[in-house]
Amino acid sequence: MRLRFPMKPAVLPFLVVFLVFLSQFAVGIRNIPGRIAGFDIGQFVEAPEYRNGKECASQSSNRENFVSSCDPSLVHVAMTLDSEYLRGSIAAVHSVLRHASCPENVFFHFIAAEFDPASPRVLSRLVRSTFPSLSFKVYIFREDTVINLISSSIRQALESPLNYARNYLGDILDRCVDRVIYLDSDIIVVDDITKLWNTTLTGSRVIGAPEYCHANFTKYFTSSFWSDPGLPGSFSGRKPCYFNTGVMVMDLVRWREGRYRGKIETWMQIQKKRRIYDLGSLPPFLLVFAGDVEAIDHKWNQHGLGGDNVRGSCRSLHKGPVSLLHWSGKGKPWVRLDEKRPCPLDHLWEPYDLYEHKIDRAKDQALLGFSSLSELTEDSSFL
Ligand SMILES: *[C@@H]1O[C@H](CO)[C@@H](O)[C@H](O)[C@H]1NC(C)=O
Ligand SMILES: *[C@@H]1O[C@H](CO)[C@@H](O)[C@H](O)[C@H]1NC(C)=O
Repeated sequence: MRLRFPMKPAVLPFLVVFLVFLSQFAVGIRNIPGRIAGFDIGQFVEAPEYRNGKECASQSSNRENFVSSCDPSLVHVAMTLDSEYLRGSIAAVHSVLRHASCPENVFFHFIAAEFDPASPRVLSRLVRSTFPSLSFKVYIFREDTVINLISSSIRQALESPLNYARNYLGDILDRCVDRVIYLDSDIIVVDDITKLWNTTLTGSRVIGAPEYCHANFTKYFTSSFWSDPGLPGSFSGRKPCYFNTGVMVMDLVRWREGRYRGKIETWMQIQKKRRIYDLGSLPPFLLVFAGDVEAIDHKWNQHGLGGDNVRGSCRSLHKGPVSLLHWSGKGKPWVRLDEKRPCPLDHLWEPYDLYEHKIDRAKDQALLGFSSLSELTEDSSFL
């Protein structure tokens, strides 16, 4: 079934901007012969068109209807875009639009890896054909930006360079973007994203995220960290709590001014020399921000739905309301649905899926061996 909705003429061809900005972070499109041709990213049906209601602040789009990412009425969302998690990203975008009070005011910033097997160009074409009137940009993430900083972690998926893209949003996104919501690709939003966007970051706080102060914070770092005479002192003056970096509201002005990218990289360099944690991109965020995070309502990150990493068991929701579901952990709803062994909550993800040929795809996905983008403890006791 192909959904067809009346559409404006193709007025936004230039919204897909392959940005060549800081040469350090972006490069022009490179074709990687052989890899593109052989990689099937599958087919997605066109999403229904979601339009602004009358109550929405009108965008100051110009005659060509070009929505500039600098428009102050926009809600900015950053996500990674890669062939492996594409189906999740597409469903996530769909869910944001479906529940937004003003869907046309949401601007997506997609970060694609330079060497993705599907190429950033192919990925952005696919986003355009699935969401013809979406305002978005695709930025190219140069993997060599982080490759030398990545240490091996307990789960291979956590070593993917794109996992670290969130550290670089302050550099990658246009300077005029002063706030962004970062979202993992294994989520769906079931509430108005503007509510999350409107979060106040009090004092000088740089990021907002749900905090989990009952989680055992000790286990996110190795004994070599805790036994060091100096390192644990970095938490002095704050009460560090675990937070999940899959959903964050980020003040990019404060981020850039405070040079937080450098602070995170410093910890990654320490990790290279001596192992102070076992996970991938999460611990440096905890080291820099834990205890100094604006605590957002837990409903904005009902995480852990991917289930137990070892046993693949199903998880249930945490108590309370739900605005965002997050399949962090090893299992992904699209894989389990295709394999006909879904967890009960996976059926909540299904209505947002826009993938075609779901049956054929099941085999391919099993071969790809999905695992989590976002990080969770391997211990199932809490999450
Ligand atoms: C978000 O904040 C804007 C500006 O203050 C306000 O107009 C809008 O109603 C708020 N939206 C929501 C959903 O809270
Ligand atoms: C927290 O985890 C550490 C390391 O795994 C463990 O030694 C400690 O007993 C735990 N604390 C609590 C309160 O569970």
